[in-house]
Amino acid sequence: MDIANLQQIFTETFPHAAEAITVTAPGRVNLIGEHTDYNDGFVLPMAIDAKIVLVAAKRSDRQVQVYSVDFRAMDTFSLDEIEPTQKHRWSNYMRGMALMIQEAVGSPLQGMDIIMQGNVPQGAGLSSSAALEVGTAVVINELNQLQLDPVLMATLAQKAENQFVGVQCGIMDQFISMLGEAGHALFLDCRSLEYQKVPAPFHEAGAAIAVIDTAVQRGLVDSKYNERRQQCEDAVKALQQWQPDLRSLRDVGPELRPKVDELPAILAKRARHVVDENQRVIDSAAALKAGDLPAFGRYMNASHDSLRDDYEVSCRELDLLVDLVRANPETYGARMTGAGFGGCTVSLIPSSEVADLEQRVLPEYQAKTGLQARLFVFNAAAGARKL
Ligand code: GLA
Repeated sequence: MDIANLQQIFTETFPHAAEAITVTAPGRVNLIGEHTDYNDGFVLPMAIDAKIVLVAAKRSDRQVQVYSVDFRAMDTFSLDEIEPTQKHRWSNYMRGMALMIQEAVGSPLQGMDIIMQGNVPQGAGLSSSAALEVGTAVVINELNQLQLDPVLMATLAQKAENQFVGVQCGIMDQFISMLGEAGHALFLDCRSLEYQKVPAPFHEAGAAIAVIDTAVQRGLVDSKYNERRQQCEDAVKALQQWQPDLRSLRDVGPELRPKVDELPAILAKRARHVVDENQRVIDSAAALKAGDLPAFGRYMNASHDSLRDDYEVSCRELDLLVDLVRANPETYGARMTGAGFGGCTVSLIPSSEVADLEQRVLPEYQAKTGLQARLFVFNAAAGARKL
């Protein structure tokens, strides 16, 4: 992305603006730990080197003017009355963020002029919306000199998504986009929000994180996502007959684990995925720390199989891509990533096999589905920050 060009567009669009700052915020790919964040569990995402860039300056009034280069559209709103808009849906992430920060700090924010552009593939499940939220949070934080804690900004971004945009996501996407570290994945405890950096030197180890976008329209994702959340809550209630103080699936320990299989069939499957996936995150983080890529890949494979068979959030296209990637004997592991029902797969492969994905997997996938999948190789990038 051409940042100098974006700064130039800013000057042309807002010739009388005050001195501008430039902020970037990355998308993310989750390596393992799927559908665990809203169960108070563990995740292991990394921020990616695809990002959104915002150039912004303070105004003396309480207006916000935002120009999206990607949508070629300008949105204007007042900080005195922040309402969702139907016309520029992308602006709702920014409006929601402004509202949540304003409420949290309890005093009015300054107006802003903003230009933005991104190269996080949209609608692919790589968290372009979380990137926009936390990028906006950093812009507001810097321009108003609020000195907000990054973890607080991440939780406010999740609140904006939950309460303003109306998507009941967990904390993972906003957290990693805010706190990601170059060259590392983060092992995040979604209850305490404590986290550890886990070195992810895939490139140096001759390996690559290959992400393939199925190009499937993710129509069902919101309703199925909420249904899964509900089923997890129902499973907790059902497990309370054996352990009355059970708070969430995160707390199912070795003694209670056998009871999971005694739940009504659907609840048993859902709970089994979450409980075992949490353990896989712990084990795979240890494997990654030890530099054991084959072991890490096996956990990825187990994660996918569980998401497909027990949690039932995969789809034909995700399964097909995973199978095609796994058909290469050099592949360490492959799984769906993100909410599911479309979106992307993530694979860990030797760097030398990237060409095989391009030359064999993508064409075979197209022949079988008629869809043109897109391949990305990502490195672990830093979280949102002012440049
Ligand atoms: C989406 C949500 C996240 C998480 C994943 C599934 O990306 O935004 O909070 O729940 O799905 O792991």
